[in-house]
Amino acid sequence: MFDALEIIQKRISVRSYSEKPVSETLQAKLRALCEASQAGPFGTPVRFRLLDLEAMNRVEAQRLGTYGVIRGARLFILGAVMGKKRGMEDLGYCMERIVLEATAMGLGTCWLGGTFRRSSFAERMQLAAGELLPAITPVGYPAAQVYPVDRIFRAGARARSRKRWEELFFTAGGRRPLAPAEAGSYRDVLEAVRQGPSASNRQPWRLLRDADGIYHLYLKEDRLYNRALGKIRLQKVDMGIAMCHFELAARQREINGRWQEVIPAEGLPGLEYIATWLPG
Ligand SMILES: Cc1cc2nc3c(=O)[nH]c(=O)nc-3n(C[C@H](O)[C@H](O)[C@H](O)COP(=O)(O)O)c2cc1C
Repeated sequence: MFDALEIIQKRISVRSYSEKPVSETLQAKLRALCEASQAGPFGTPVRFRLLDLEAMNRVEAQRLGTYGVIRGARLFILGAVMGKKRGMEDLGYCMERIVLEATAMGLGTCWLGGTFRRSSFAERMQLAAGELLPAITPVGYPAAQVYPVDRIFRAGARARSRKRWEELFFTAGGRRPLAPAEAGSYRDVLEAVRQGPSASNRQPWRLLRDADGIYHLYLKEDRLYNRALGKIRLQKVDMGIAMCHFELAARQREINGRWQEVIPAEGLPGLEYIATWLPG
């Protein structure tokens, strides 16, 4: 297992790729990771596939398309999930694990939920009835030089910037922000959530620590944005990514526990409850 806190810090969205090919050994590792990932913490079946554009003819590869956002990538990981309640969270959780493993191998990635031709990639995935393709990611070595479109994208989404702690983490039934100094052994865990990628860098995750010190995860949904793609809800994928970061960071800090849906006694007003981290 990699150093989760370090790898989470290191990961950024890479949109310009080098021509240096990913070795057969690393490709085999990526393929094994894809195959090993079969269900998320809520139990929804997920399916991942490593796609090599080089194996296709040029016209076919161009038809797949990422609208000029991604340059030079020849490998992609495609993520499919059954369209069920909590499916998006499960997809986000499982795919982020693969993304972090790839980061640990020295490879770049970039979550794509919007700027890719979904129907063409879906054909490659041969979706079963009821299955959705919420996201894909290129995977490869970052280019030495970043293309202008990449720079524009990063500036537009204010890529490295994150909301302040006070906006994300709460206590006292949501009436008071949770300061880093109060978070104790969970400080790095919450920071790992804060560093996570999210669709358009909207950072919709909120955490509430209750009177017993238990953490509950909520979604601050941007309804128009989140519902623009029908059954695919990118902000729910974001929640799965947050669960993944929380869990990996907790494990590294030797905090045992697991995600469960319980009904918290008091919630964050106006936000959608997702899950609770039950210690032990
Ligand atoms: C679910 C999801 C969907 C995303 N979709 C896109 C996309 O379609 N195109 C894109 O260029 N970036 C996309 N991103 C990347 C985000 O813009 C990026 O994670 C965010 O700006 C933070 O930057 P960082 O990943 O470099 O930390 C997506 C990220 C997530 C988590």
